Amino acid sequence: QGCKLVGCGSAVPTLKVSNDDLAKLVDTSDEWISVRTGIRNRRVLSGNESVTALAVEAARNALQMAQVDPDDVDLVLMCSSTPDDLFGSAPQIQKALGCKRNPLAYDITAACSGFVLGLISAASHIRGAGFQNVLVIGADALSRYVDWTDRGTCILFGDAAGAVLVQACDSEEDGLFGFDVHSDGDGQRHLNAPVKENKMDNTLGSNGSVLDFPPNRSSYSCIQMNGKEVFRFAVRSVPHSIESALAKAGLPGSSIDWLLLHQANQRIIDAVATRLEVPPERVISNLANYGNTSAASIPLALDEAVRSGKVKVGHTIAAAGFGAGVTWGSAILRW
Ligand code: ACO
Repeated sequence: QGCKLVGCGSAVPTLKVSNDDLAKLVDTSDEWISVRTGIRNRRVLSGNESVTALAVEAARNALQMAQVDPDDVDLVLMCSSTPDDLFGSAPQIQKALGCKRNPLAYDITAACSGFVLGLISAASHIRGAGFQNVLVIGADALSRYVDWTDRGTCILFGDAAGAVLVQACDSEEDGLFGFDVHSDGDGQRHLNAPVKENKMDNTLGSNGSVLDFPPNRSSYSCIQMNGKEVFRFAVRSVPHSIESALAKAGLPGSSIDWLLLHQANQRIIDAVATRLEVPPERVISNLANYGNTSAASIPLALDEAVRSGKVKVGHTIAAAGFGAGVTWGSAILRW
């Protein structure tokens, strides 16, 4: 059983925040941010916008491109670390899309690697369990967990959603092959947003003793990051992962039409491309406009590249995600 990508879509919030806007909040400048990261603007949720609504819009666009009816979707995978509901939002997306046959829908939490892991899960469900049409959505709003007084992190992130429809096909048409995935909990100390223990005043027990109960864990800390360590981790791990995915696919590096990395920092993208000897004109990058949109960044950049005609039917794409956890992984795709 093969599986292939048959549609993509994306959605971004309306509010555009430029580097100059951020320079009014923290001690930074457009020059510092663009030279160190390549980012110039990002989109941030405002008003009634939500991660779920962006995800639904991106998914609708993907279904429209694929010309597949929502009723024919049998699995919705929502890759997000910032869902609107702690328990996940994939079933809400399924409902909003009007998938009346009640497909399975669940969330995957793997930060910036989420979308690549979602693709791999989609392929496994299709090959191993007979699913036919799987929506893989990457959507995040890290703006909700950014410390807007910390110039080391608030300049990096933006909000967005992207989606692809993965469909079962004959094995000769297979368009999703050569996976490589890893995680290393030791790296969590370099990038995290842990639960914040908002301790209540200790309650007195019936005998007058002080109880450490009930606990009150109602929020998460802002994103904490050691940028240099994250940078090193990405540049060290991602080229190996792509090489390994290519080897599993039985393809040489020269077969890559496009390198599509998680859009975290232009310097990371350039360093990985140099190590893999992929020339700049074959590297997809749109982070100047959107910043790091976590699980959304790969499908957002893919959607733009497909709709602009850059990525054409039959092109081979090496995609790689990396991020908090830490997790990282690659997938070789044919559009
Ligand atoms: N504006 C101006 N100055 C700044 C800013 C800013 N926004 N941020 C930091 N500085 C200062 C620092 O205070 C420091 O000053 P000092 O030398 O006086 O102490 C100086 O600039 C250098 O700071 P560094 O942190 O060493 O700068 P670096 O070159 O490492 O760049 C950056 C920082 C851009 C964050 C970089 O490390 C990076 O991009 N790392 C990868 C981060 C990343 O991709 N994270 C997300 C990936 S995973 C996920 O997506 C969740």
